[in-house]
Amino acid sequence: MSKIIVIPGDGIGVEVTAAAVEVLKKVDAKFSLGLEFEYRDAGGASYEKFGEPLTAETLDACKKADAVLFGAVGGKQWDSLPVDKRPEKALFGLRKGLGLFGNLRPVKVYDALIDGSPLKPELVRGCDVLIVRELVGGIYFGARCESELVDGVERAWDTEMYSVPEIERIARLAFESARKRRRKVTSVDKANVLASSRLWRRVVNEVAKNYPDVELNHLYVDAAAMALVMKPSQFDVILTNNIFGDILSDEASVIGGSIGLLPSASIGELTSFYEPIAGSAPDIAGKNLANPIGTILSAAMLLRYSLNAPAAAEAIEKAVDQTLADGYRTAEIYRDGCRKVGTKEMAAAICARL
Ligand code: IPM
Ligand code: MN
Repeated sequence: MSKIIVIPGDGIGVEVTAAAVEVLKKVDAKFSLGLEFEYRDAGGASYEKFGEPLTAETLDACKKADAVLFGAVGGKQWDSLPVDKRPEKALFGLRKGLGLFGNLRPVKVYDALIDGSPLKPELVRGCDVLIVRELVGGIYFGARCESELVDGVERAWDTEMYSVPEIERIARLAFESARKRRRKVTSVDKANVLASSRLWRRVVNEVAKNYPDVELNHLYVDAAAMALVMKPSQFDVILTNNIFGDILSDEASVIGGSIGLLPSASIGELTSFYEPIAGSAPDIAGKNLANPIGTILSAAMLLRYSLNAPAAAEAIEKAVDQTLADGYRTAEIYRDGCRKVGTKEMAAAICARL
């Protein structure tokens, strides 16, 4: 038996996790994985029921689970709450509470969708990048001050700080990931300006000595942002800190044409966590319009990384490829001549190909 905690959350999170669970049940029947699902709330949904975005019980249940499948959190109705009641707080609580230090965000370009990319097809064809983002350190979690008065002038500040073990841990994850791919790591920092980046670069170079079979290069984040749109195919694994990873992964997400296609895995000390990149998209929530593929591919990552079921993971990925090749499209990737479907129909089409 493998226990999976499902946290649909808010907005389209509800529909896309339902789609992914349907797919998981189908592969479970086929590969006898023994999956067991338990549902929990987080974000706005949890705030409405319990008055807080993440309860200790939910965090505890996640700690004990084999894996967590997460939809999304957030919505306008909770935007004016105090910072510690806001839905995003649930994400940070889960990241920190489960020690989810390594966020893996693969970006792959599907031949069938290449015209949907804002970049020229010849630039993006075959592009396959994995962003490895440090997720529980850096400026997201450093000391901060919301407001202070100095000589009558108001100011606010945040701190970017990394320790050697934090950098070593995420660097190892990047090199290990590269070994399963094309054996190239590009470490992204701002070492020409920031002390924390100079330490980052030094430690990454040290860790690299244990991976002589993996090629390493370094880029400053500004140059990396440019290279991602000029020649994305040069990248295999991008290793970077929390904030640069946040920004670069959104930039990279458009290469393939839709953020709705992209999965992610957050590797943790206690358990690991799987979520689509797209967010809660309140404007289309509840309308059967959301693309479930990012969540379905997150479920495939869950099978690969947490349940050691690579054949089942591959079966899902192949079924997604086939469904797209067969012309099924949700609204945001629809083109003339294709078959426009909703969230549920897309999930059913993928299940039918499993
Ligand atoms: C992400 C999101 C979050 C982040 C937000 C919702 C706080 O943008 O997962 O990339 O910045 O980490
Ligand atoms: Mn982000």
